Amino acid sequence: MHHFYPLLRHLLFMLDAETAHNTTIAALRSPFFPAIPLSPHPRWATPLWGHALPHPIGLAAGFDKDAEAVAGLFKLGFSFVEVGTVTPQPQAGNSRPRVFRLPQQQAVINRYGFNSKGLDYVVANLRRYRHHHGRQGVLGANVGKNKNSEGVADFVTGANAVAPYVDYITLNISSPNTPGLRDLQHDNALTELLDRVQTHLSALTSGPKLVLKVAPDLDDEHIHHIAAQVIKFKLDGLIAGNTTLRRDAVPDVWQHEAGGLSGAPLFDHATTTLQKFSYHLKGKTTLIGCGGIGTPQQLQQKLAAGADVVQIYTGLIYQGPALLHTLLSS
Ligand SMILES: Cc1cc2nc3c(=O)[nH]c(=O)nc-3n(C[C@H](O)[C@H](O)[C@H](O)COP(=O)(O)O)c2cc1C
Repeated sequence: MHHFYPLLRHLLFMLDAETAHNTTIAALRSPFFPAIPLSPHPRWATPLWGHALPHPIGLAAGFDKDAEAVAGLFKLGFSFVEVGTVTPQPQAGNSRPRVFRLPQQQAVINRYGFNSKGLDYVVANLRRYRHHHGRQGVLGANVGKNKNSEGVADFVTGANAVAPYVDYITLNISSPNTPGLRDLQHDNALTELLDRVQTHLSALTSGPKLVLKVAPDLDDEHIHHIAAQVIKFKLDGLIAGNTTLRRDAVPDVWQHEAGGLSGAPLFDHATTTLQKFSYHLKGKTTLIGCGGIGTPQQLQQKLAAGADVVQIYTGLIYQGPALLHTLLSS
């Protein structure tokens, strides 16, 4: 099926980016969507929290925000899939257009602003997935906050609701498109967030792993502080990271398009941030490298920078599911 992607991409790119994405999700939801065989070399086998993954590549959050296509996404060959970001209450997000392709740069700018069908809908989908597929596949849920809420309580609500159905929960405090969200990365706000979420989750007997997703746009002092919190709260993982507000690697016309930049121009910046976290955290938590991976060399560079496993998103838009084969071919 992935041999057809160049043609499919041509058709999808005739649509605006959001419509193309919704069309893709609709196709992946179909029970008739064919599984794409992927037989990675055994040397790619990677442990993740006690699971034996066939390779280290997972799907990043934001692709299946409402957990509608989990089975289809595993059929593409991902080792692990992260759904969300889900907010407690349904919300529409920003007005359209809110996602833009930069084909020359193999990049995307998005300012969705957490469009979410809400926790009830997502939990029902997760429950249905587990009912039909059991514990098959390492599944994560990325939780966030509603635009007009205070914040920390939304993370507690979200984490508790998804906990019975997922292997890990990601606290997303790094989307640039929800005002004030990134402030939770700082100082006392982060301590309070982790304290409250962990207190509630520890009431569960066999709870899911707890992961923090951070922005690539952090200075050394913040990286140091966040790493100290990860150690203090014994978090199970850190995703470095989300999209960037920086525009230095894209042409002038895109300088003023609001939103987070992802894809190839993010790679160096995200990898440097990962490396800095790795300096503080390697061996102390699971590091998930994310941002700009599109070639086998870049996969190697992320692993060399300290990633235990990686996630991809934007590369898929440009290269389709064949990207998994490409990345694992070397
Ligand atoms: C269209 C789009 C929507 C996204 N939505 C989310 C989201 O809801 N939650 C989140 O944590 N990250 C979201 N992300 C960020 C990705 O998960 C990932 O961290 C980022 O795109 C960098 O990886 P990439 O360069 O491989 O795309 C989104 C990215 C894109 C391109």
